[in-house]
Amino acid sequence: KTCALLGAPIETGASQPGCIMGPASLRTAGLARVLGELGWQVSDLGDLGIPTVAPLPHANPALHHLAEARAWIEALTPAAHAAARDHDLPIFMGGDHSMAAGTVAGVARHAADLGRPQFVLWLDAHPDLHSLHSTTSGNLHGTPVAYFTGAEGFDAYPTLTHAVDPENVCMMGIRSVDPAEQARITDTGIEVHDMRAIDETGVLAPLRAFLARVAKANGLLHVSFDVDFLDPGIAPAVGTTVPGGATFREAHLIMEELCDSGLVTSLDLVELNPFLDERGRTASLLCDLTASLMGRRVLDRMTRSFAA
Ligand code: ARG
Ligand code: MN
Ligand code: MN
Ligand code: MN
Repeated sequence: KTCALLGAPIETGASQPGCIMGPASLRTAGLARVLGELGWQVSDLGDLGIPTVAPLPHANPALHHLAEARAWIEALTPAAHAAARDHDLPIFMGGDHSMAAGTVAGVARHAADLGRPQFVLWLDAHPDLHSLHSTTSGNLHGTPVAYFTGAEGFDAYPTLTHAVDPENVCMMGIRSVDPAEQARITDTGIEVHDMRAIDETGVLAPLRAFLARVAKANGLLHVSFDVDFLDPGIAPAVGTTVPGGATFREAHLIMEELCDSGLVTSLDLVELNPFLDERGRTASLLCDLTASLMGRRVLDRMTRSFAA
């Protein structure tokens, strides 16, 4: 099985710098080596870049770095499309979460080539459901889900060719939602499992129900993993920490269940800000979680026997 690593050192969608170092930090943590040891044939495609761009004016005065975001989406969409076509499981190493506007648009184009529906599992403290007009922070990492589900209000972004049906999006870990995002959740009916729901049901029941939907539809599954999905106590290297995130065990369990499903066809690792890390522990944790997603297990369950 083949895996591609593609770096997207974008940080202009966040409020503070640092995510530009994310791909380098994941490489330093040994991501390619770990996946190679699990039997994957790994191709590191290097980092994408954008040319210098002139500022784009916009009616929302809070927006910043709109031209950079647009250029990144223009670069990432065809690159993600090609990576999905040429590899079993491309991994997009961010970079802040604004990049998902391009990675998801690209993999959805590939799904359309295959005549199959694209699904997205969004693991994040935030739903990132703002439009260019509704964001009050102006940080464009708060907007990708609205864009790739085909919402209005993206006049200045590249025209989306293949939207993801909001019914095919499942969010877990959500615990910080702005009013305009709440309205969009209500309008679209996007499946959101906030931390209260996870406390009540655990992560497995909602995840299995979603995976069953993906399997039934013969869908492709993109997983978008924002570092702030995790509890800040185990993952400090992110600019938007929110208390009460997923635990080490919940996160590994999700990744192992995703592995067992065999359904995952692409992955974002986003919002890692190495400037905020402690001796590389967040980058190392992301590597270990990716390893769980891609086949590492403590015990090989096939060889375990519970026979009396
Ligand atoms: N909703 C907030 C905003 O729009 C936070 C967004 C955080 N997004 C992220 N990808 N970390 O500013
Ligand atoms: Mn996010
Ligand atoms: Mn294709
Ligand atoms: Mn987030």
